[in-house]
Amino acid sequence: MTSKKKVGLFITLEGGEGAGKSTNLEYIQRKFIDAGHEVLVTREPGGTKIGENIRELLLHAKDQNISDNTELILMFAARTQHLYEIIEPALLQGKIVLCDRFTDATFAYQGGGRGIPDDRINTLKQWVQLGREPDLTLLFDLPIELGLERANNRSSPDRFEKETLAFFERVRKKYLDIARQEPGRVKIINSDNTSAEVHDQLDVILDDVLDNL
Ligand SMILES: Nc1ncnc2c1ncn2[C@@H]1O[C@H](COP(=O)(O)OP(=O)(O)OP(=O)(O)O)[C@@H](O)[C@H]1O
Ligand SMILES: [Mg+2]
Repeated sequence: MTSKKKVGLFITLEGGEGAGKSTNLEYIQRKFIDAGHEVLVTREPGGTKIGENIRELLLHAKDQNISDNTELILMFAARTQHLYEIIEPALLQGKIVLCDRFTDATFAYQGGGRGIPDDRINTLKQWVQLGREPDLTLLFDLPIELGLERANNRSSPDRFEKETLAFFERVRKKYLDIARQEPGRVKIINSDNTSAEVHDQLDVILDDVLDNL
């Protein structure tokens, strides 16, 4: 039996509603496991008990007035617990951490979508992440109408999915801006394709990552 390889790697999956993050997590996980790595799969907001409670508030709260700043701070409250309790220990143990959404989502939704300035988000980011950054981010991109259609076929809309098309256009644009600014870290997956074609795109990126581990 080969022993498990020990190299911590933090990979985040990003993209708008219905872009295919959750669907492709399993495929990505399988690739790393087959290559002999230990994988931890988690998500944001959430990933811990308190984080999942915050997720419930943020995604499904009814009849509650959640201000933009409250939303932002709750995202980072869940994130600090997630880093402390789950992500950092897993990386220390040499695991591959696959996280369904992370801080790019905050820049895209609370920044691009809600209009909170980047520098305010950056203040919280520095405070919470203490220099921790994803090693690789897979940005699943597709036209928003298609993503919303896919998401609506899947489940009833959450608090964010009830937003306007203009909101989602701003989210998409912000994600693509981040990808342009950080091409080394952020790889764009064109999700307006069949699952097999999406897997082919993932193979190109992940085989390269695996070769270099
Ligand atoms: N390549 C594809 N072609 C057609 N349908 C797809 C494809 N990939 C995923 N789907 C379907 O689209 C829906 C949304 O996908 P998924 O739940 O993975 O999106 P997501 O990015 O996790 O969205 P959210 O941000 O809302 O969690 C699912 O029902 C999924 O089965
Ligand atoms: Mg999902």
